[in-house]
Amino acid sequence: MAKQSRLYVALDFADVLQAEALVAHLNPGECGLKVGKELFTRAGPGLVQRFVAQGFDVFLDLKFHDIPHTVAQACRAACDLGVRVVNVHAFGGRAMLAAARRAVPQTLDAPALIAVTVLTSMDQAALVEVGITRPLAEQAQLLARLANDEGLDGVVCSAWEAAALRQIFIQAEPVIITPGIRPAGSALDDQSRVMTPLEAMAAGASAIVVGRPITRAVHPADVVRSIMASLTEQNSRLSPNARQ
Ligand code: C5P
Repeated sequence: MAKQSRLYVALDFADVLQAEALVAHLNPGECGLKVGKELFTRAGPGLVQRFVAQGFDVFLDLKFHDIPHTVAQACRAACDLGVRVVNVHAFGGRAMLAAARRAVPQTLDAPALIAVTVLTSMDQAALVEVGITRPLAEQAQLLARLANDEGLDGVVCSAWEAAALRQIFIQAEPVIITPGIRPAGSALDDQSRVMTPLEAMAAGASAIVVGRPITRAVHPADVVRSIMASLTEQNSRLSPNARQ
């Protein structure tokens, strides 16, 4: 698994040109890019390949969830694009996770393979409606354990779950990527339980996802730089044995 960016900018654009215009302001040495279903469906793999060619770490956030063979083939296709992170729904089950794991090589240049547990858009009532009566936090932990059992590299989760889910992974440095992040003083938009970049990393995230505070800023590169500076500040305050 390759070394990961600590900040992924969520490119939630319907318009490919808008996404490319924003990326033109960003520096691959300072941040990675998260490409999700909307932009990928509009722009296709060519755009991802262009970002990779420009030197950006790309988190391909397509949350694969299908029969094991199909998910394995999709993961192989993601590896061929040269992305740094690919994700699947842990709810797809053990066989699907195992197939994904076999498809993504565990070499230094291969992407991290991470799992989505319970979507943060779901509350307890929504879980019950799909037949899951276990408390939501326990369900997320159960799915994270399944992901760990099958050798996945980590999870994407809320920063509020990061500490609990980090403990589940046996590998020393699991990949814990947290959205729902707002630099101090930014608008919340439609996020509710947010953390600042600094708080999220202190809570156990290995990388954060930030969208609108960067993509809607007048000077996006300045916001990226100030977020990265706030994380560097944290590192300098931690003891040498603390998590980087
Ligand atoms: O603009 P904002 O920073 O809220 O964007 C957050 C990104 O992270 C979006 O792409 C959103 O879909 C994604 N995300 C999230 N919460 C989750 C999972 C993904 O906000 N639980």
